[in-house]
Amino acid sequence: GVNLSGRNFLRLLDFSTEEIDYLLKLSKNFKDMKRAGVPHRYLEGKNIVLLFQKTSTRTRCAFEVGAMDLGMGVTYLDPGSSQMGKKESIEDTARVLGRFYDGIEFRGFAQTDVEDLGANAGVPVWNGLTTEWHPTQMLADILTVQENFNYDIKGRTLVFMGDCKNNVARSLMVICSKLGMNFVACGPKDDMPADDVLEACKPIAAENGCTITLTEDVKEACTGADVIYTDVWVSMGEPDEVWAERIERLKAYRVTKEVMAMAKPEAIFLHCLPAFHDTNTTIGAEKAEQFGITEMEVEDEVFESKQSKVFDEAENRMHTIKAVMYATLK
Ligand code: CP
Ligand code: NVA
Repeated sequence: GVNLSGRNFLRLLDFSTEEIDYLLKLSKNFKDMKRAGVPHRYLEGKNIVLLFQKTSTRTRCAFEVGAMDLGMGVTYLDPGSSQMGKKESIEDTARVLGRFYDGIEFRGFAQTDVEDLGANAGVPVWNGLTTEWHPTQMLADILTVQENFNYDIKGRTLVFMGDCKNNVARSLMVICSKLGMNFVACGPKDDMPADDVLEACKPIAAENGCTITLTEDVKEACTGADVIYTDVWVSMGEPDEVWAERIERLKAYRVTKEVMAMAKPEAIFLHCLPAFHDTNTTIGAEKAEQFGITEMEVEDEVFESKQSKVFDEAENRMHTIKAVMYATLK
C-alpha cells in the first residue's frame, strides 16, 4: 500500500502514479464525508503554519478550512509579517517553525526556497505555488476531470492554451504523463515549457501510454479534446513590462466559443483561477484601459458557460489539499 506519512509535497515529479491515485481517492473520500456532514477531525492536536510571499484566495483558504476540518490549529503569515528572507534565512526559519508546527505550507518565488524549507524543517512541507510548480492545483484539476468523465480519464486529452511555460502548465504536463492523459501545450513557441520538464515527462508519458504534444496550431490542438485549460497570461512575480508583449503574443490563444466548439461536445473548460475574463477587478480595469481589451485568456461567455467547471475545480482545492495534509501528517 501507499504510505506518504512524513513526506514533503514539493513537486509532482517526486510522486508515483500509485501515490497520486491514492491522493485522488482520499480527496474523493474527504469530499463525500464533508458533503454528508461526517466529522473527520483525524489530526486533532496538531498545528500547521502557512507562509505566503505572494497573495492567495483559494490556496490559503483551502489549507485553513482543510486544517480546521481535520481538527488542527492554523497560523497564517502574510508576505510582510515574518522575518523570513529579510532578517532570517529560510533554513533558520525552517528549523524554528519545525519545532512549533507539525506541517508547513509555503507559497513563494523560487522552487529552491521551498526545497530549502523542506530539507530543514523536519516536518512535512507543502508547496502552495512557486514560479516553477503548483503541485496542489493539479490534484484538484484532475479530481474535477474524473468527476466529469466517470472516473475514466486514461487516454483523454487535456489542452493547455496560452503561457505554456508557467507553473500551472508545467505541473499539468507532469500529472497528465503520470496518469496516462495526453497533454497538449498550445501557444507561441517562445512560451513553451522548458526542455528539462519536457525531457523529464517524456519517458513517464511513454510508460503510461500517453502523448505530449507542443503546438502553435489551435485547431490541431483542440480538435477532439476532452479538457481545455488556461491560466493568466502574466503570472505573479513577473514584471509589469511583460504585459504588452505577452498580450500581443497570446491573444491568438484565448479560449473562445470557437475553440470550445473544436473540442468534443462533452468537453469541459478549466482554469486554476483567478481568471481575467471581464474588467470587474482593479487590474482588469487598468489593463483594459491600457491595452483596449476586456478579456484576456478566456472569453466571458466560455467562463460562464455550462462547460465551465471552474468553481467545482476551486472547491476541489479544499478536498485535495486536505488529502495531502492528512496523508503526510497521519
Ligand atoms: N488557484 C490558486 O492557486 O488560487 P489562489 O492564488 O487564490 O490561491
Ligand atoms: N500562473 C499563475 C497561477 C496562479 C494560481 C501564477 O503563478 O500567478
